[in-house]
Amino acid sequence: MLRVGFPAILDRNLLTVMPEGVELIPLEDGLDHPVEIDVWIPDPYSTRALRLWPHLRGVRLVLSMMAGTEWIPGTVGRHVTICNARGAHNICTAEWTLTAILALLKYLPLYLDIQRSGDWRRRSEASRLYQQITHDERPYHPPVKLEELTGKTVLIVGYGSIGKDIERLLEPFRVHIIRAARSPRTEPVVHAVSEFDSLLPRADVIVLILPLTAESKGLIGPRQFALMRQGALLVNAARGGIVQTDALVEALNSGRIRAALDVTDPEPLPIDHPLWRCPNLLITPHIGGSSPLFDARSLKAAADELRRYMKGEPLQNVVQAAT
Ligand SMILES: NC(=O)c1ccc[n+]([C@@H]2O[C@H](COP(=O)([O-])OP(=O)(O)OC[C@H]3O[C@@H](n4cnc5c(N)ncnc54)[C@H](OP(=O)(O)O)[C@@H]3O)[C@@H](O)[C@H]2O)c1
Repeated sequence: MLRVGFPAILDRNLLTVMPEGVELIPLEDGLDHPVEIDVWIPDPYSTRALRLWPHLRGVRLVLSMMAGTEWIPGTVGRHVTICNARGAHNICTAEWTLTAILALLKYLPLYLDIQRSGDWRRRSEASRLYQQITHDERPYHPPVKLEELTGKTVLIVGYGSIGKDIERLLEPFRVHIIRAARSPRTEPVVHAVSEFDSLLPRADVIVLILPLTAESKGLIGPRQFALMRQGALLVNAARGGIVQTDALVEALNSGRIRAALDVTDPEPLPIDHPLWRCPNLLITPHIGGSSPLFDARSLKAAADELRRYMKGEPLQNVVQAAT
């Protein structure tokens, strides 16, 4: 019988999706003795999973509940197959991305400040913010108090499972979409990331939704910020390490761009980090995929993969094949 280790903290009712013929072994946080398993479903929090790993024996297959798996290959080694929960977090993360774009373009962080101060007259700050970030000094009457998403150009960097869902949610806003991924293709047109420099100046909004890898680490640095439009909005729903944090702090503090980040580098962001105090920035603490449906969807993805594994069928969401 295949032994499947899973985080003991999970609701057992959700594990009824697992195929017959497996022995489910709950793995407590704080476990301090060796446990033999064949398949490991790690805790979504990598620090807890990493604490557990030294006690696990016999793992041949890892079924991650996350889409991003960057810490797993270096931990488990090349002889273990790793699959992710591709698709399980699409809805939640795509909705976060749309919300973040609209929140920044409608100046919601500023209006929340104004609400908290209880001072209606501060609404004139929105007009100043618009001028500062766009460098648009034309006289408007009434003065500009927010911006529109409709008609803007959105560059989606990473056109995979979630990137496609972000495009789907953006469709009603009649935005112009530019897509970029590792490899170029047509129908729809997806540009290679090597064309990045020529794509960046065309975008009002740049959405990052690609994995953190050796190639994507630090993809957005001083040169990329310099290429962006004045006041462009950078939305990072992917991983913090894709953006060079020092350059991001500089680009925000100098008023070049604005940003919405669900992820940062470092993470967790220390309490005294300069990023917390940057202007024109909305930070959420890596919650993009964390809806009440997270566990159920992730475990369903793991169960489907496990069923294929037991039947000897090709696995669907392999991020590392065992060598
Ligand atoms: N904030 C959150 O809570 C949250 C939640 C879920 C996921 N995520 C992050 O989102 C990432 C994407 O998830 P997904 O399910 O959409 O993954 P996916 O289906 O595997 O798609 C990844 C996309 O990124 C592209 N890509 C890979 N390396 C690239 C590079 N160096 N430069 C440009 N594009 C590159 C791929 O290009 P090709 O199509 O050419 O292969 C593909 O289009 C995950 O890895 C995870 O880190 C974050």
